[in-house]
Amino acid sequence: MTILDGKALSNKIAQEVSNDVIQLQKDGITPGLAVILVGSDPASATYVKMKSNACKKAGIYSIAHEMPESISQENILEIIDMMNNNPNIDGILVQLPLPAHIDTTTILEAIDPAKDVDGFHPYNVGRVTAGLDGFIPATPYGVMELLKEYNIDPKGKNVCVVGASNIVGKPMATLLLNANATVEICHIFTDDLKKHTLNADIICVGVGVVNLIKEDMVKDDAIIVDIGINRLDDGRLVGDVDFENVNSKCSYITPVPGGVGPMTIAMLLKNTIKAAKIRLAKTNGK
Ligand code: GUN
Repeated sequence: MTILDGKALSNKIAQEVSNDVIQLQKDGITPGLAVILVGSDPASATYVKMKSNACKKAGIYSIAHEMPESISQENILEIIDMMNNNPNIDGILVQLPLPAHIDTTTILEAIDPAKDVDGFHPYNVGRVTAGLDGFIPATPYGVMELLKEYNIDPKGKNVCVVGASNIVGKPMATLLLNANATVEICHIFTDDLKKHTLNADIICVGVGVVNLIKEDMVKDDAIIVDIGINRLDDGRLVGDVDFENVNSKCSYITPVPGGVGPMTIAMLLKNTIKAAKIRLAKTNGK
């Protein structure tokens, strides 16, 4: 069994990003990311802090707009408009989930697709689904990079994606399909999850259910990608896979923490660099 070490790969990518920042600065541009956080959900606040810190470390300029739960949709749209028109901002990220009185689609569609470093705008969703260049959502993008690092080619493999969210499951399935895997997507209404996971050469799971994937649901030598992050009552972070009992059965597995989580942040930085390079090309009239 080999551990898919997302921490190590994310450090390597962060170093590449730092080098890109130095080059962009020589070309007259400092990459900039605006992060918008609404409300006081502690997990969201932690993620936003981790993203801001990673930006600072890499030399990316970052602004965090932290707004109270009670803010109106109009006010959020105004901030997005300001960031769309701010020439120093290359990427805009609205941390999800948003409070119930805010329409998430309206917010995501207000972001300039050229600054949509989360890849959640329907324009980028469509481009990526069609196999065209666009911003790829950071978590599934990170999973694909992690598989590539370990020379795991999804082509022709049976993949079971567990979870069908717009942020993780659907784009994960899309990227794997575009990499020529045979993809099944399972979700909360799937009857007999085990029947599907047992058939999979690769299982990608991200639903937020502790120990959802157990030993008897995994075939020998499967590759397991655990995208779940759950905090136990004792403070420990665990994924959606019963790691202790599953790990000896599989050929590769991501740990939690230290697997997909750090990759998500690294790919966000990479998307911000991509956006900054687009700005540079535009500035140079290309
Ligand atoms: N909430 C959970 N994951 C993400 C993510 O990747 N981006 C944003 N914006 N919000 C999230």
